[in-house]
Amino acid sequence: MLYIGVDLGTSAVKLLLMEENGTIRKIVSREYPISFPKSGWSEQNPEDWLRETCAGILELTQDIDRTQVASIGVGGQMHGLVALDCNDQVIRPAILWNDGRTVEETEYLNTVVGKETLSAHTANIAFAGFTAPKILWMKKHEPELFDRIDKIMLPKDYINYMLSGTFCTDVSDASGTLLFDVEHKCWSPEMLEICGLRPEQMAQIFESAQPVGTLRPEIAQKLSLSESVVIAAGAGDNAAAAIGTGTVGNGACNISLGTSGTIFISSDSFRVDSNNALHAFAHADGTYHLMGCMLSAASCNKWWMDEILRDTNYAAAQQDISDDRLGSNSVFFLPYLMGERSPHNDPAARGTFIGMSMDSSRADLTQAVLEGVAFGIRDSMEIARSLGIDIPRSKICGGGAKSPLWKKIFANVLNIDIDIVETEEGPGYGGAMLAAVACGAYPSVADITQKLVHVVDTVHPDPDIALRYEKKYRQFQTIYPTVKPLFAALSE
Ligand code: XUL
Repeated sequence: MLYIGVDLGTSAVKLLLMEENGTIRKIVSREYPISFPKSGWSEQNPEDWLRETCAGILELTQDIDRTQVASIGVGGQMHGLVALDCNDQVIRPAILWNDGRTVEETEYLNTVVGKETLSAHTANIAFAGFTAPKILWMKKHEPELFDRIDKIMLPKDYINYMLSGTFCTDVSDASGTLLFDVEHKCWSPEMLEICGLRPEQMAQIFESAQPVGTLRPEIAQKLSLSESVVIAAGAGDNAAAAIGTGTVGNGACNISLGTSGTIFISSDSFRVDSNNALHAFAHADGTYHLMGCMLSAASCNKWWMDEILRDTNYAAAQQDISDDRLGSNSVFFLPYLMGERSPHNDPAARGTFIGMSMDSSRADLTQAVLEGVAFGIRDSMEIARSLGIDIPRSKICGGGAKSPLWKKIFANVLNIDIDIVETEEGPGYGGAMLAAVACGAYPSVADITQKLVHVVDTVHPDPDIALRYEKKYRQFQTIYPTVKPLFAALSE
């Protein structure tokens, strides 16, 4: 049988067709627009996601016997607010995970409700991109639209609802709403009350590899698939990527370099970072994880190459950056193009180059962009280390992981081994694996990751380069606190 994995991303939906033995038969990708109505705001139209996902499924399956498709699993961009009315119509464009409009609401939650209360109810504090502050924003700024809300859902849950008719979510994605009691895996009555929500507006909760239903007959017909195709609950994209890279078991780590950059640390038991700087979320394998999230990662390099240099040859731009230049760059880049989540929780922060002189070259700035993202991930890793978590090695996935240079920079900035798995299609591959478990092809998530995910290469840090980067990282760490007041002033 065949399994469809869907990665509902921020710039595109990527779909793949997986055979039972894990072989990827085909991958297709379809883009959709994103709008930035104001600086730091970001929105997408859920109907675009659905249209492109359905078109993607048709394209993916056009040359195969479609009766072979057994199930579909989606890994989706997290935290986005999708609101439907009582006729299941989308009320307003989805407010995305990297939208920073909710400064006041986040402040209200963290100071008036209080971080301790939030952490007691949800294991997390408020960050501007989380769903709860967006609900408060909508209640205040769009009261008529807020009153029309019949169902609140996350991006991938909109797809699952439209495909299966089941109003559902999974534990990993629900964790990022700040409405979910992560430890006990249920909606928090206190948080619903604080946000003015009713329990019936909230989705039914599933573990990620559970089936939520089968294709609606009219959708099955439209997609030329059987009505018996199972829909898995799926997962937030980071948990799905962790499954896709085999990041399961205590202390296993994955770095994802997509539009966002995340460091995902799997944990067998529930635990909270005492300062809540890292997110404490449920994992897609029934356990938990800690995560740090940068709002701009591979997107920094995309912005630099596409928008500024207007150059599509990413590999050529990196080819002159030889080993002797690593750890020796005097230019730094703060990668906060959309503000920053982990660890600064500062929607006003912005991208910044510093340290240029007359002899700085285009390659130095390109290198600074790649390094700035690695330093940002190191910031979150330092927090994990301060909690006593030892991270000797990590997997890596996402578009940025295609660059050999960037992987080398990560290995040396973090001073750990970076393991490369056979497929870099993190969330899509993880989605297909969850789909295979949901329809019974494999007994558990642990079993399928053990059988299908293989490390094919490891990038080791070089002691000299790692030492040079140690000094550079200490310098990098001083820049943000110095310019932070400036960001606040500039945002006024
Ligand atoms: C995680 C986060 C991002 C999005 C990107 O907390 O906000 O990684 O899930 O799709």
